[in-house]
This record gives sequence, structure tokens and C-alpha cells, in this order.
Amino acid sequence: MSADNGTELRVKKIENGTVIDHIPKGRALAVLRILGIRYPTDFIVSVVMNVPSGKYGTKDVVKIENRELTEDELNKIALIAPEATINIIRSYKVARKFKVELPDHIENVVKCANPACITNTREPVKPTFTVIQKSPVILRCDYCGKYTTFEDIIEQF
Ligand code: CTP
Ligand code: ZN
Repeated sequence: MSADNGTELRVKKIENGTVIDHIPKGRALAVLRILGIRYPTDFIVSVVMNVPSGKYGTKDVVKIENRELTEDELNKIALIAPEATINIIRSYKVARKFKVELPDHIENVVKCANPACITNTREPVKPTFTVIQKSPVILRCDYCGKYTTFEDIIEQF
């Protein structure tokens, strides 16, 4: 469901860019941090929080004009907003719509929650994880075997 209730438009449509829709409420600012958007920014960004979504519940929405997202950014968003929908907008039309999807294995996008893990020491070892559960997310470190959970990850963004 859009943020338009029929009598007013909360945030207008964009001409080109990306709409990240169906973000769980309260996580829009974490999405902005993932995208490296902090004030001052040159991007035109619209953020909507706590708008009605479907029959029950509310959602956040982030719209970024003239920008598409990288694979790493999409994976990070999938970690904290597994139900998010990515809409690529071209000439005002939804040119592509897809749900974020965590791969079974991720590299280098989050830190291991275990401070003693070799990936957190000075060794040049990049953290890699096996995805145990996607929503809410649970990762297993390929080096120390410890779990990194949603609560650990949201603190990193
Ligand atoms: N949108 C936009 N600018 C456009 C087209 C769409 O900002 N030019 C936004 C809409 O406001 C909505 C999202 O992109 O938040 C998806 O648009 P659309 O597919 O038309 O809406 P729904 O059908 O409600 O989407 P869904 O079924 O994914 O909930
Ligand atoms: Zn580890």
C-alpha cells in the first residue's frame, strides 16, 4: 500500500532513482546509515516513517533520487529489513521491483560479534559468514563458529 491515502500525497513520486519500501518501522535511519547518507548530503532523499501498510501495522519508506544500490548495500539492507522491496524508478515508472534476498553466504559486510575472533584482530582476515536464518537474521562465523544476530548487526549500522 502506498503512503497516499487518496486525499493527499505524503511524498511525491520520483522521476528516477530507488524506492526502498516495506522497511520495518523504526529502521529507516539504519537504512540511511547503510547507504552512507548523512547530513549534509547531495542526494535528494525522502524518508517516511510509520505510515500505514496493509491491513495491520506500519512501515518506513526511503526514496533516493538518481541513485541505484550496490550488491553490498542490498545485502546490508536485507540483514535489517528482510521484507524490504526495492523499486527501481525510471521516468516515473517502476522499471524493476524485487525483494531483498540474503545469499546463503556473505562476506565482508558485517563484523563478527565475537571480539576474540581472528577477523576482529589485526590479522588481515575478512569476516565471512554462513546465513543460518534470514528473518530475524542469524549468521555463523566461518572462522570462530559463533553466532552474530540481528541485535549485534543493528548496532553496527
Ligand atoms: N514510487 C515512487 N515514484 C514513482 C513510482 C513509485 O516514489 N515514480 C513509490 C511508491 O510510492 C511506492 C513504491 O514506489 O512506495 C512502489 O510503487 P508501486 O509499485 O506503484 O506501489 P505498490 O503497488 O503499492 O507497491 P507494493 O505492491 O510493492 O506494495
Ligand atoms: Zn568470528
